[in-house]
Amino acid sequence: MCGIAGYIGQRNAVEVVLDQIERLEYRGYDSTGVAFQSPEGLKVLKRAGKLGQLRAVVADERPEAFVAIAHSRWATHGAPNDLNAHPHFDQEGTVAVIHNGIIENYLEIKEELTRAGHVFQSETDSEVAAHVIGLEYGEGISLEEAVRRAVGKLEGAFGFVVISMREPGKIVCSRNASPLVLGFGEGENFIASDIPALLPYTRRVAILDNDMVALVTKDGISAMRSDGQAVELAPFDVEWDIASAEKGGFEHFMLKEIHEQPDVVRQCLAGRLGQEEMTLLGLFSDHVWHDIDRVNIIACGTAYHAGLMGKTLFEKMLRLPTDVYFSSEFRYNDPLLSPKSLAVFVSQSGETADSLAALRLCKERRIRTLGIVNVVGSSIAREVDRVLYTQAGPEVSVASTKAYVAQCLVLYLLGLHIAQVKEMPGVDVRKGLKAVRGYPDAVQEALELESAMQEAAKKFLDAPLVFFLGRGADANVALEAALKLKEVAYVPTQECPAGEMKHGPLALIEEGTLAVVGATQANTRDKLASNISELQARGGHVLGITTKDDGLIPGVSDTVAKIPATGDWYLDALLSVVPLQLFSYYMALYRGCEIDQPRNLAKSVTVE
Ligand code: AGP
Repeated sequence: MCGIAGYIGQRNAVEVVLDQIERLEYRGYDSTGVAFQSPEGLKVLKRAGKLGQLRAVVADERPEAFVAIAHSRWATHGAPNDLNAHPHFDQEGTVAVIHNGIIENYLEIKEELTRAGHVFQSETDSEVAAHVIGLEYGEGISLEEAVRRAVGKLEGAFGFVVISMREPGKIVCSRNASPLVLGFGEGENFIASDIPALLPYTRRVAILDNDMVALVTKDGISAMRSDGQAVELAPFDVEWDIASAEKGGFEHFMLKEIHEQPDVVRQCLAGRLGQEEMTLLGLFSDHVWHDIDRVNIIACGTAYHAGLMGKTLFEKMLRLPTDVYFSSEFRYNDPLLSPKSLAVFVSQSGETADSLAALRLCKERRIRTLGIVNVVGSSIAREVDRVLYTQAGPEVSVASTKAYVAQCLVLYLLGLHIAQVKEMPGVDVRKGLKAVRGYPDAVQEALELESAMQEAAKKFLDAPLVFFLGRGADANVALEAALKLKEVAYVPTQECPAGEMKHGPLALIEEGTLAVVGATQANTRDKLASNISELQARGGHVLGITTKDDGLIPGVSDTVAKIPATGDWYLDALLSVVPLQLFSYYMALYRGCEIDQPRNLAKSVTVE
């Protein structure tokens, strides 16, 4: 996610906001910018790349402003370059705007304003918002009123911070989902997207709530709702140290990223769900989907496990033959690639060398390529024919959690898109859209299993081996859950389809062995109940993960974790990973492991 900073007071405002942005670097970014008032008017300096590039430009300018705003951008729309960096001006240059989040209706507004003669410098939705704010900022209209009116015309998840030359003693900010925090000083006040940027200056902060607009001057901060009604802020004193503040108060980035998942799902869906249909932009023309006769998904590690979910989905929902390959194996097995096949590369970093090498082989063979990538502008994202971004925000912890859920979700949206384009009678796209719209809440509810997973981790803290079992889509999730436990808690695991146990792995079951059994798929529960009996007959302790409407598995499991039923088999299976992410985290925590940077592992494996 991007970093936001704002300052008004008696210090050198540009120095303050650049320092604030530097304190948000852990969030990941690919360009930075600053806006301030100068004798010549509003000034904007911005550069792609790291903060040092911007600092060099600012040093030449030597600004002495008392009001400034700054931004570090993590690209979601448009490549990370100087033009797309924030802040953005409106058409007349009367306001400078920085923005976090995604504006879902920006394209239709941009087309309308372009027809009205507006000229845009960037590809971003943020610049469109700046133009909308500038349009509202007519004679006699205050900056805060202009922002209030403008946000009423914008749809999506966003946070804005705005300054103008006409009213130099003001910063106005507005929030609708993207976090903004206000800092209270003496004769000075602050804005930031996250608390660590405020702590060197003040510990007296207030969270700007959704649907609020705040007016920040050097003497005070006031707020109103989007309907104009004044509201009281609720300042409090932050007790955190800076290190824990960077993790949002969580002890590790992994736990923070697990808990971010409801918002990640919202970001992943933003701009992609119409009322009645999918609106996935930037894909192949519709006729291509009638031509594709096979899908090959190529990835590593967690991304490979997301690929397995994609295979189960495409074959079950679309009847589209799909194979999944480990990237590291793909090139050396002389793969059979039909000229009408589609190669899909799933990658959080977009820099995994094995996947990049496989991509280049597919391009040599003139195979269509699609990327499902988190990092905008990464190598894989640049080299595929089409890319769908997961929009999960930077994932800091080496163990992938939120990116996996976002990858599986994008595969689901792609499946609905293909079904819609091919007008497949057996696929109810509207039902799928309804299920996915409720997914952020389902993920939030699944997170409520945190204390149950803490208890399970305490109970099995010294487990020498843990089984992860399931059937169908649950078998895919079992692989991902097992990888998490291996990665962060260094616990050996045995993962396989539950029906495969009796063909060998069952020999590993001893008295007290923990077996996690995913049972979200109703059509396999009878068989799973038998598998559970086989495990228990040999001393195994079964932790069943199932949906709340299941009347069978809870009665035969030793421990059970119930997740909400989403109304969709694929989303149910995917949801079961959330408690298992928490289980792995707490196993690692109680075993005293490093967690965010596990031994021997790297976040992005850029060597083959
Ligand atoms: C998952 O927790 C690991 N970090 C690892 O398996 C990772 O998924 C794999 O290296 C692929 O990385 P990518 O998604 O960036 O290509």
